[in-house]
Amino acid sequence: MNINPIGVFDSGVGGLSVLRALREQLPAENMLYFGDQGHVPYGPRPMQEIQKFSAGITKFLLEKQSKLVIVACNTASAAALKYLRAEFQGVQFVGMEPAVKPAAETTQTGKVGVLATPATFQGALYASVVERFGAGVELFQHTCPGLVTQIERGELDTQVTRDILEDALIPMLEKNIDTVVLGCTHYPFVIPLIEEIVGENVRVIDPAPSVAKQAKRLLAAGDALSPAEAQGNIQYFTSGNAGKVKSALSKLLGVDEFVQTAAWIDEAVLK
Ligand code: DGL
Repeated sequence: MNINPIGVFDSGVGGLSVLRALREQLPAENMLYFGDQGHVPYGPRPMQEIQKFSAGITKFLLEKQSKLVIVACNTASAAALKYLRAEFQGVQFVGMEPAVKPAAETTQTGKVGVLATPATFQGALYASVVERFGAGVELFQHTCPGLVTQIERGELDTQVTRDILEDALIPMLEKNIDTVVLGCTHYPFVIPLIEEIVGENVRVIDPAPSVAKQAKRLLAAGDALSPAEAQGNIQYFTSGNAGKVKSALSKLLGVDEFVQTAAWIDEAVLK
């Protein structure tokens, strides 16, 4: 038994789609959520910079006694997961990878669309996912420039958001895809709009539930779950504007929560 919190981070509000799944599957767990709104978006940034931010956030979460760190960001996982595991030996991490595996197992047309940020597609992690699970399937990749920013602003169904998604999805639909993999944790918040565009015959995959399941498995294996009767508490931190994150929480998760600010000092240390 271990009542220490699970640390969860993302460049912004995207990791809340993972937090939502964690909360459903692990209601007894305490959690810390860190959104790096001071640096969002990560997608267009160089790998080294994302590694530096991810290491700073990991340190912050570990100082607050996190028993497990969830990199609830595909971009940070692609750029920094390997680096974090080497830098913080003995710490357990769970990262994200585009859900090509379940897509490849269920597609009927053999054609699958993947939406993610440029950094995710460039990383070795994506190449390895494609190599391991993409055999026999045709994958159509597309970035969605501007979409993360739209979601940070809470613009889940405006014309600009629709235009970005149509630019990515219509060419894939023309190729006869029957599955779309959401390779960025922000994107599940626009699933209703994605479903409107792709129609009911296309399956949209949000990997958050499997990631939460993996976290649960790891904690159970290490005998580190909170007692089942506990009521988990969640603390929210941002390196950006706490008021904006508070409204995003209410819009995206329907909760009214206090948000604390943790500012970057010299771009590497959080206080
Ligand atoms: N949620 C991040 C991801 O999963 C967003 C990336 C960004 O900040 O550009 O990739």
